[in-house]
Amino acid sequence: MSFDSEQNKDNLIDNIPVDEKSYNALIHLLKKTTGLNFKYYNRKFIEKRIKSRMIRTPCRTLNEYYDYISSNNAEINKFIEGFTVNYTFFFRDYDVFETIQDLFIQGSRVSRKDIKSNIRPDPNKLAKFRTKSNAVKNLHKNRFLTEKAAKYYVDIFIFLNQLSYYQKMKRPKSENNTINIWSCPCATGEEPYSLAMILDNLETQAPRFPNYKIIASDIAPEAIQKAKVGIYTDDSMKEISDYYENKYFTKQKTHFGYKNIISERIKNKIEFVEEDVTKGHSKPYYYDIIFCRYLLIYFNRENRHKFLKIIENQLVENGILILGKTETLFDSWGNLQLIDTNNRIYIKSRSKLYER
Ligand SMILES: C[S@@+](CC[C@H](N)C(=O)[O-])C[C@H]1O[C@@H](n2cnc3c(N)ncnc32)[C@H](O)[C@@H]1O
Repeated sequence: MSFDSEQNKDNLIDNIPVDEKSYNALIHLLKKTTGLNFKYYNRKFIEKRIKSRMIRTPCRTLNEYYDYISSNNAEINKFIEGFTVNYTFFFRDYDVFETIQDLFIQGSRVSRKDIKSNIRPDPNKLAKFRTKSNAVKNLHKNRFLTEKAAKYYVDIFIFLNQLSYYQKMKRPKSENNTINIWSCPCATGEEPYSLAMILDNLETQAPRFPNYKIIASDIAPEAIQKAKVGIYTDDSMKEISDYYENKYFTKQKTHFGYKNIISERIKNKIEFVEEDVTKGHSKPYYYDIIFCRYLLIYFNRENRHKFLKIIENQLVENGILILGKTETLFDSWGNLQLIDTNNRIYIKSRSKLYER
């Protein structure tokens, strides 16, 4: 099949019929050959992936595509490569990072005015990617704390205070007084590195800062490899503030634009792991903070449960889960309770925290 425009491509995709038998056979074959269980993912998303591969082959039906991919390892690799959507950038949804920064500032008992940090990107930079009026509007939007969220922050401050001071005073340094953070999925590393930059920046300014450990994982080997190398194009830098860009990156001019190299100091703060989270987590840690942003959207309804159970089990009591801005578990899920609607933050608590 051939297509000469996006419109033509979409029409071709829409017109491919899906027969159940070939679809199931294909999913089964992919599981056997790649180990990936595509049944976990949103059906529409998988169908679109299959069809968008099909239109690049001579196949006209799903059954023909099944035969084609069965005897063609290169096609299996192509299917997988484009399947994982690694789209991400530094400080994506920067107000979420501001909130996390606030927690650590409060937890470290320093005053906000004594801390040098600016997470908000320059409006002119934002305007390159969005319309200017939108960018400015976003920058001046006041963060709105619901009453629930305000109470929650008090809980978290107490929690961080206890970790960083009470335990440190009473016990020798150990894993117990380290704040564990997991970025899952981390794609090419921009999310955990954003966090590491914020914590490193605070650590050098707050006299008593808690120990912390950041684990970052993703299913895609090429994404993890890129994260470990730590060199980024300007696309990844589109919402980073000048403060963080100047402090933690060096720039090199190439034939294709600039490459932005993250400092070794920040690279050393993260342990990257390649894993399929639907099969569980391979590290022996429980986490105080889990970033699980823009993954849930790909999973189908039945398997969200299995996946969320894994995430919930990895959180300590009172630990927090941060979802992507377009994702929701509504008011609660299991022991996870929504405490900040704007930032999609849930807290794990067995007791009912707030009256509805
Ligand atoms: C859109 S990125 C999200 C990156 C980052 N959290 C952010 O918000 O910018 C989604 C990532 O999910 C990863 N992914 C998909 N299925 C996965 C699985 N079963 N286990 C771990 N990572 C997975 C993909 O490889 C991709 O890098």
